[in-house]
Amino acid sequence: MIDLISRLLGGLSEPKSGSYWLLALLTLLLAAIVGTIAGLMFPSSIPLMEQVRELYTLTPPPIQFAVLIGTISICIILGAVALNQRQRQNESESVKVQLKGELESKNQELHKLKRMITRLEGELESKNQQLQELENKIARYEQESQETKQELAELRRFRDNLSMVSERETIWKRPATNPPRFIPRSHRHTIFVCMLNLKGGVGKTTLTVNLAAYLNKFLEKGILLVDLDFQGTLGNLVTNDILRNNQYMHGATLERIYEQYQYTYERHKHINPAQLIQPLLTQVEGLDNASVVLCRDTLELVEQRLYADFLSDPNNKDCRWFFRDIFHNDKCMDIILKNYDFIFFDCPPRITPSVINALACSDYVLIPTRLDSGSVDVVPRTINWLRSLGKEYPSEVLGVVVLGAMREGQLTHPNQIAYENLQDMLKKFKLPDRLFEATVPISPHAINKNRHTPYAALTPRGQEFYRPVAEEFLRRVH
Ligand SMILES: Nc1ncnc2c1ncn2[C@@H]1O[C@H](COP(=O)(O)OP(=O)(O)O)[C@@H](O)[C@H]1O
Ligand SMILES: [Mg+2]
Repeated sequence: MIDLISRLLGGLSEPKSGSYWLLALLTLLLAAIVGTIAGLMFPSSIPLMEQVRELYTLTPPPIQFAVLIGTISICIILGAVALNQRQRQNESESVKVQLKGELESKNQELHKLKRMITRLEGELESKNQQLQELENKIARYEQESQETKQELAELRRFRDNLSMVSERETIWKRPATNPPRFIPRSHRHTIFVCMLNLKGGVGKTTLTVNLAAYLNKFLEKGILLVDLDFQGTLGNLVTNDILRNNQYMHGATLERIYEQYQYTYERHKHINPAQLIQPLLTQVEGLDNASVVLCRDTLELVEQRLYADFLSDPNNKDCRWFFRDIFHNDKCMDIILKNYDFIFFDCPPRITPSVINALACSDYVLIPTRLDSGSVDVVPRTINWLRSLGKEYPSEVLGVVVLGAMREGQLTHPNQIAYENLQDMLKKFKLPDRLFEATVPISPHAINKNRHTPYAALTPRGQEFYRPVAEEFLRRVH
């Protein structure tokens, strides 16, 4: 009610303490004015007023006083209420101000917090970026470490391989995965023989050429000679210069097998290995149905490359089986090898890729030796090494042939002792019967002296030297 009046009077949206005071005064003033006007205008005509005046007059002073006091009290109460209201208003104002202040400070804090959040979000973002970069770095390091590990493993393997080189022969004993098939002897016509001794100058080439010449000329055997020594001694002995140089010019030499095999045959298995061999076959001079695969000094380079590749990377094409893949092939057998009863590989006194290849496709190894202590000592080393190659090399020792032992049909005393030592040694290898009874004497008639007598074995004297060896050879291979 008070609020309503106050609003009506003051047009205020909210009651204020001043308006209560004003209302109290106005009420009194209005009462007085109304009373006065009523008294003046209607002094007696208004019975009610008269009665009131009378009542007032009749009213004893204490009651008048009480009315006065009551009126004043009402005014005081109204004033107190107004005061109280004002205080409350002030309080609420101050609370409002306080709240406003607090709100403002909270707002400021909120702003601060927002700014802080923005900053922290920025920092978080940059931390995330850093984290991402670190993760990328870690991934890169991990990859690098993986690569380094692989490189290390490669290097270790390489080191191991290198340490194997210190014992030069060992590298070839590396286990083989899927070597090509070895056609058993019983399933083919041609016999493969390696002429091998890890010592040079013992007469390997001389024996190869003369044994081949004898077998060819007197026993009508088809012969294929393969020169594996890049010095080319064998080729020089069995071909004339013109033919040989012509073959060199056309690159018709042993290394062609490696090149062609690696780059052509290996990729296109349909290529006939017979076509690979055919151009390399060079007619042996002075013999029928005898050919030679020549070789020249460039073979050394090709072999070094093969060796290095095999040494450094085991995943490279395993270069030990090229010959076997080519020779132990039905087409090669049917087209080329059917003409030859024997293939003789004339080996150098070193383990080369060609020697390994020849051994991998040979049935027999024939070991020519002299009887001096230096040569005799190398025979067990050669046999030991052959045995250590493992089952992938099926060739067996056909025998040991002694060259240059006899003078005038007799062994000299030191040679006799050496010969017996050799026999004992072969017994220890459980090869007691492998020393050839036939020997080739030291004689100018046992060697190929000049172009006009290329084969000692075909001369009357030489024939006597080589016949026993050739016959024993045939007995042993059949
Ligand atoms: N029975 C022999 N009598 C005399 N000299 C020989 C005899 N056999 C080989 N020679 C000679 O010994 C040397 C080496 O022979 P060679 O067959 O080339 O040995 P390798 O092939 O083992 O290196 C050659 O000069 C050769 O003429
Ligand atoms: Mg030789």
